[in-house]
Amino acid sequence: MWATLGPLSRCPATCHSLGPASPARMLLPLLLLPWAWGARAASPSLPSAPLTLRLLQINVFHNASSADMEGMALLGDLETHSMDCSTCQIRFRQPWAQQGLKPKQWQDLELLLHRYLSDFIRLVNKVVKDQREGYPFVTQVFFSCELHPNGTLRRVCDAAVDGEDFISFDMDTGKWVTRQGDKLGIYVEYLVNQDKSLSTLFPFLERTMCVYGLNTFAQYGKESLERQERPVAVVFARVPSPAGTPAPLLLVCRVTGFYPRPIRVAWLQDGEEVGPGRRLSSSGILPNADLTYQLRSSLAMEPGDGHSYACRVEHSSLGGQSLLIPWGHSRGWGPGLAVGITLGALAVAAVAVVLWRSRRRGYQDVGPGESRA
Ligand SMILES: *[C@@H]1O[C@H](CO)[C@@H](O)[C@H](O)[C@H]1NC(C)=O
Ligand SMILES: *[C@@H]1O[C@H](CO)[C@@H](O)[C@H](O)[C@H]1NC(C)=O
Repeated sequence: MWATLGPLSRCPATCHSLGPASPARMLLPLLLLPWAWGARAASPSLPSAPLTLRLLQINVFHNASSADMEGMALLGDLETHSMDCSTCQIRFRQPWAQQGLKPKQWQDLELLLHRYLSDFIRLVNKVVKDQREGYPFVTQVFFSCELHPNGTLRRVCDAAVDGEDFISFDMDTGKWVTRQGDKLGIYVEYLVNQDKSLSTLFPFLERTMCVYGLNTFAQYGKESLERQERPVAVVFARVPSPAGTPAPLLLVCRVTGFYPRPIRVAWLQDGEEVGPGRRLSSSGILPNADLTYQLRSSLAMEPGDGHSYACRVEHSSLGGQSLLIPWGHSRGWGPGLAVGITLGALAVAAVAVVLWRSRRRGYQDVGPGESRA
């Protein structure tokens, strides 16, 4: 869960120029915003597949006076918004990401997040000072809600320090609970439960983002979320090493360029699916730079064992069909290429027959003045 990001942006003084945030100042927008959004959040529609909205906040604390921050929102696996700390602004990462809220609502949300962030940084620095902890370290805050087609809403709110789970927010009781029962963990648990702004932000996000936000963004981002990219697959053999030893051959099926993420890749031996076992291994699904995915599945086999092998790929973009790439004569076959070759061969045959017949006709049947172009 605790993925790392690229370079984070430095938080300038302007992010905290609002002055020390008091609980009262913090609470004001919290009370106003759900009121403004409430009317439209009243009748959420249920999605046909699970929908997830995730908010991530990563801070690097260099010392008591310097911290970097990066925040982002993801709908499914699409980055929809980011909060760049160098400008203190919400950035829209998808063309449709600004729709759904009015400019005033975005401004309110920005203000709310600034206040939360300055409270967060202040609180963390206080903990370090009180507990004589050292710099530098990284904090990660993760908030997600997942709406299932049956109406179940799963919510998670966790925070980690240097990649270790540290504290969680229990949405049902509205309390922070330490994940590390040591003195530091117990102290932080006490402190954040006293802090109104940290205890109210996440219930607020749940009310606004998990119901209204999730449905609204899913509606505007429908096209991007339902994008279908077809996989391209190739099968090749990994040369056993060291060369010459009678090691089993590794057949590799490389599938890439597909979207969305769910995919099924299987190996067939003489037409029968190879069951799970030590012969099989998989890279797992990995992201490409262009928001498509890739996967490698390998099968160990004895060279010259007399069996036939093929890799079978099933994906939603293939319209109920599957890709079948036999070992031995595949060259990056995309979907339909086998069909294409068959149709191509038929077309060539048909043209040959037509040419042959028209030539015969040309010699025998075509009358004077008829065009033969
Ligand atoms: C705090 O860390 C920043 C970034 O590493 C550095 O530029 C700055 O000089 C440090 N300040 C102090 C007081 O150590
Ligand atoms: C709804 O679906 C989720 C995920 O499939 C499942 O975990 C949950 O138990 C279901 N809830 C109900 C009430 O059926």
